Amino acid sequence: MNSSFNMMPASAQSYARAAGLLRGGDLVALPTETVYGLAGDARNADAVARIYATKNRPAHNPLIVHVLRVNDVADFVTLCPVSRALIAAFWPGPLTLVLPKRMDTNLADNASAGLDTLAVRCPNAPWRDAFLDAGFDGPIVMPSANKSGRISPTTAAHVSDDLGAAVSLIIDGGPCPVGVESTIVQITDGRGLMLRPGLVSLTDLQRVEPSIRSHLGDTEKPTAPGQLKSHYAPKTSVRLNLITPDKGDVHLGFGAHFTAPGLNLSPRGDLTEAAHNLFDYLRQLDGDAPIAVAPIPMNGLGAAINDRLKRASAERDE
Ligand code: TXA
Ligand code: MG
Repeated sequence: MNSSFNMMPASAQSYARAAGLLRGGDLVALPTETVYGLAGDARNADAVARIYATKNRPAHNPLIVHVLRVNDVADFVTLCPVSRALIAAFWPGPLTLVLPKRMDTNLADNASAGLDTLAVRCPNAPWRDAFLDAGFDGPIVMPSANKSGRISPTTAAHVSDDLGAAVSLIIDGGPCPVGVESTIVQITDGRGLMLRPGLVSLTDLQRVEPSIRSHLGDTEKPTAPGQLKSHYAPKTSVRLNLITPDKGDVHLGFGAHFTAPGLNLSPRGDLTEAAHNLFDYLRQLDGDAPIAVAPIPMNGLGAAINDRLKRASAERDE
């Protein structure tokens, strides 16, 4: 395990230290059930500005406001029956909702990039209670703790590699269980549109609210900057749906489709295991050789895995 000077294992003490730093306007990296996030006090415009600067994130790409208590969400957005039902079903958990932003919030203006909608999420993470105990009640803005456009971090070492000393404290809570970012659903006039797939699948969402549709495959202009085609990109080239890699490739395998050299996301063909390993394995394979990726089924978490792989393989904007 990487243990740089600004890294502490998850514990009551490190959470209390993180709460103090956040209250003082500093940035800390925190584990969540999805990926590691770079957290700052959402009420503090300087802290929010430092998040954008540290990640080199374009100012027009809005942040997710994370609440420490589920019910706090009503302070920031206007709820409707659909959003209430989704919150009751999936929070705390890996679902982000994009909802009409209230005008009377104490959020820093730069937290929502000037939009009249706001992305909100209540993560399933143990530091929420610890922060409340330490007298810090949020909310926090928390993008994935990587440089903009790169693969999200799923271990504390990934955060350290990407952001290093730019963060006051990195809390090491081990590898993130889910491994891909939260599902994002935008709700407009009671209609839900899935903007980003994640552990909460379209089928899961439709079980609660049958009218929800997926934005994926839409040819319209993207509404979330995370939907830009090149995102989550390794440095080397990535090619998809290859049962057999070419000579000179490294293979990112799945199930029975794996030819060394490379790594198999899940030798037993399990999508949960594959999502958990995805970003770590892409980082490990990101070298001189091109990465050839085996076909991944589209069911369940497969939609999220294929979405991230498609972006990793897309032509680069840079
Ligand atoms: O799992 C996650 O959601 C992680 C953990 C750390 O919580 N966070 C995360 O944040 O993935 P970030 O900033 O890397 O991705 C948030 C996505 C971006 O694609 C952003 O464009 C989109 O959410 N987003 C934020 N506010 C939005 C809004 N008002 N409308 C549409 N999309 C929005
Ligand atoms: Mg991100």
